[in-house]
Amino acid sequence: MVHLLRAVLPSLLVAIVNGATYSLSDNIVGSDFLSTFTHQAIADPTHGRVNYLSQADALAKNITYANGNTFIMRADDTTVLSASGPGRNAVRIQSNAQYTTHVVVTWPAAWEVGDNWPNNGEVDIVEGVNGVAPNAATLHTSSGCTMPSSTTQTGITTGTDCNAADNGNAGCGVQCNKANSFAAGFNGAGGGWYAMERTNSAIKVWFWSRTDSTVPSDVKNGASTVNTSNWGTPFADFPNTNCNMTSHFGPNNIVINLTFCGDWAGNVFTSQGCGSDCVSFVNENPSAFTQAYWDFASLAVYQ
Ligand SMILES: *[C@@H]1O[C@H](CO)[C@@H](O)[C@H](O)[C@H]1NC(C)=O
Ligand SMILES: *[C@@H]1O[C@H](CO)[C@@H](O)[C@H](O)[C@H]1NC(C)=O
Ligand SMILES: *[C@@H]1O[C@H](CO)[C@@H](O)[C@H](O)[C@H]1NC(C)=O
Ligand SMILES: *[C@@H]1O[C@H](CO)[C@@H](O)[C@H](O)[C@H]1NC(C)=O
Repeated sequence: MVHLLRAVLPSLLVAIVNGATYSLSDNIVGSDFLSTFTHQAIADPTHGRVNYLSQADALAKNITYANGNTFIMRADDTTVLSASGPGRNAVRIQSNAQYTTHVVVTWPAAWEVGDNWPNNGEVDIVEGVNGVAPNAATLHTSSGCTMPSSTTQTGITTGTDCNAADNGNAGCGVQCNKANSFAAGFNGAGGGWYAMERTNSAIKVWFWSRTDSTVPSDVKNGASTVNTSNWGTPFADFPNTNCNMTSHFGPNNIVINLTFCGDWAGNVFTSQGCGSDCVSFVNENPSAFTQAYWDFASLAVYQ
């Protein structure tokens, strides 16, 4: 499958750091997403077999849907594409607000990126392709940011050089220790929560599956305050030991999108046992994308 990502998201919580405890200041629900995020009808920077729609087109085609406490972003799952025409209709949205030091709690997640990439950094909170678990959390930066090979985390470090110009932009990644952190295992478990905390001393990422007994109550209940000190050991810890967080990470936007094939998924499509040609698969199998969508109930901002 290609980006098999069926995500039912009761909440997406963003907090601006002000110590380790943050208070709810804003709550974006349903159609609020249409005014607080911008649809980006751009060419996919990673060359996916996708056609990102404007908000007006996406609403008209019901690719973007907002009603009550539901906000859904999906892909066209009915059209067989012409090989010579544009890619599969889908959307990419970017928050109008930018965040520096903050906490984001999502169900399941998104990613963040700054202007003038990679100089303001990129934090991938959920990253994976072709339905292969587990999830990895990855930083992509300008040169001069590396991670120690051993940190206080439960996940496995897969790369220590965060420089986007090295290693084909692999970035510095940490693989989650839980198989239900992505794809079929994630969906089968009913989803889960991702949380990312960014301060000037570290970036940390946590994951809790829906039925995990250790989900912090503030995360689970969308509490009016959250205290990251009580969240236990993160699966990914990116300390500032050899990476000045202030100079490598600027204001970032939250980005949520759905793309197919392209630089990463397309290149590993065959080796991951998905078939011989990712683009043809996307062109010819619209129904494969019925279960590839984002579904948010709310986005709460904490400061
Ligand atoms: C649009 O999508 C929503 C969410 O999937 C669905 O409930 C609704 O029936 C769709 N509307 C139309 C006109 O297809
Ligand atoms: C946050 O949690 C830590 C660890 O339990 C505790 O020491 C601290 O007092 C809490 N902060 C607030 C403001 O409640
Ligand atoms: C980190 O970068 C900031 C911004 O460029 C700079 O002001 C600060 O002195 C740097 N810190 C260290 C320890 O080099
Ligand atoms: C979102 O877009 C980025 C490129 O800007 C891509 O690397 C990533 O895989 C996309 N995410 C999804 C879930 O399609």
